[in-house]
Amino acid sequence: MMQVFSTITALQTTLDDWQDKGNKIAFVPTMGGLHAGHLALVELAKQKADKVVVSVFVNPTQFGENEDFDQYPNTLEKDTTLLEQHQVDGLFTPSVEQIYPQGLDSDIKVAELGDILCGDSRPGHFDGVVQVVHRLFDIVEPDVAIFGQKDYQQLLIVTQMTRQYFPAIKVLSQATVREKDGLAMSTRNQYLSTSERKVAPNLYKNLLDIKEKIQEKQEIDAIIKTVKKQIQQDFKVDYLEALDANTLKQITDNTSKIAILCAVFLGSTRLIDNIIFNKG
Ligand code: PAF
Repeated sequence: MMQVFSTITALQTTLDDWQDKGNKIAFVPTMGGLHAGHLALVELAKQKADKVVVSVFVNPTQFGENEDFDQYPNTLEKDTTLLEQHQVDGLFTPSVEQIYPQGLDSDIKVAELGDILCGDSRPGHFDGVVQVVHRLFDIVEPDVAIFGQKDYQQLLIVTQMTRQYFPAIKVLSQATVREKDGLAMSTRNQYLSTSERKVAPNLYKNLLDIKEKIQEKQEIDAIIKTVKKQIQQDFKVDYLEALDANTLKQITDNTSKIAILCAVFLGSTRLIDNIIFNKG
């Protein structure tokens, strides 16, 4: 039976009890609006630890002023049922006041990796992500924490932060879960109209096209230029780049893994996706 904790004290009392009994804890932070992608994170968590804790907290500090904080889907009842069905042990649903007792301001600034790609288009976004993940890690103190590869830049930034501040926590990632037509699952897909939803899978098709052309050894800048034009037929492109997957810098002879990363607007919905593969 899943336990639901709305306060830090209640959660920590149970966590202490589980830890005293020798249980390893896996943690899956989410903002709710759960879909099969989140459930894949839960399934990986179950393989890696004895007890799984999921948090549902829509973090105000990672949203920009004109973003969708106010309309972000709140589906807590449905989320609770799904997590129960997936045998999660603890669900943590804190209030904003509990997460940020001193207010929303933070000194945490993500260096370098936080300023490019999504960080360039969404100033302060990754500072907010790191602020909340840091706070949640302080509260939960898990052995393992699981993040999705769909937010690839977030995954790298959180991994870096964890190495620095929580070396005992192991960050693991789970591959992106896709709809049958290839669209990466995202809570924000709910915003798409029926006609937009039909177009949305073209994004992934274009990423696959880039991957194929890179593997055929075509010149990367030229590929990106051509495919960007293709993508612009359906989407407003925020960024489309092929980078070294470990550093998010330009690909060099030393690059072992490539990341093709993109963010686009479809109407007013911002979609992100990526493909990571060995350079070969
Ligand atoms: O990926 C998300 O859902 C959020 O950015 C996270 C990691 C839960 C922090 O609010």
